[in-house]
Amino acid sequence: MRKKIVAGNWKMNTLLGEGVELSKGVAAGLAAVPSDVKLVIAPPFTHLYAVADAIKGTSVSLGAQNCADQKSGAYTGEVSAAMLRSVNCEFVILGHSERREYYGENNDTLNRKMQLALENGLSPIFCVGEKLEEREAGRHFDVVGEQLRSVLFNLTAEQMASVVVAYEPVWAIGTGKTATASQAQEIHAFIRKTLREKFGALADEISILYGGSCKPSNAGELFSQPDIDGGLIGGASLKAGDFLEIAKSY
Ligand code: 13P
Repeated sequence: MRKKIVAGNWKMNTLLGEGVELSKGVAAGLAAVPSDVKLVIAPPFTHLYAVADAIKGTSVSLGAQNCADQKSGAYTGEVSAAMLRSVNCEFVILGHSERREYYGENNDTLNRKMQLALENGLSPIFCVGEKLEEREAGRHFDVVGEQLRSVLFNLTAEQMASVVVAYEPVWAIGTGKTATASQAQEIHAFIRKTLREKFGALADEISILYGGSCKPSNAGELFSQPDIDGGLIGGASLKAGDFLEIAKSY
């Protein structure tokens, strides 16, 4: 049985006090969330230590939004996978389209980040997804397939077992446009089929999350699809009530 996961990517939002309050709000509402749904919150780096403390003793897991592609040393401004682990992070989002687009992340950097995250006991939430023009040209399967093969196919099966995949069509991120449940299911099934080529039956154990304007009003339908195992939530994760509502819609 693969894990059901609802993860909140706060992106560059909230000040420290707001972030701590938000995390407490999520923890306070946990009782109403089905016990088989894992909640993950990924605040900005500056909040991790305080948020870890705020959610201590609850089943909410902590994630980071990125990590360095180097182990340690003279890399001004970077935060290593080991540092994230030292503040109790369990997850790290890697390959988000915003990092690929605005910060030039490519397959080389992502391959290094994946290895470091896994060596340090973090579960990467590895993001893939096509741009609007790629979907309109009918190239979405090629684009997503290439993103998977260039990074995930370099992992061992043991490493892959700790990875979560997130499909986030770039045209649906922060736009209010969501992939329809059938569009999302179609590409999630494709992702699983692609993973099966390399990892065989393990592909059926990998959680594949949907991201892109997922909100309380559409989460239920998306999560009812056979290959959608939860969501990676941006905007709607900034309100504890909405985030919990999404998790409850499972
Ligand atoms: P939105 O939910 O704001 O569209 O963001 C999705 C996302 O990018 C999560 O990583």
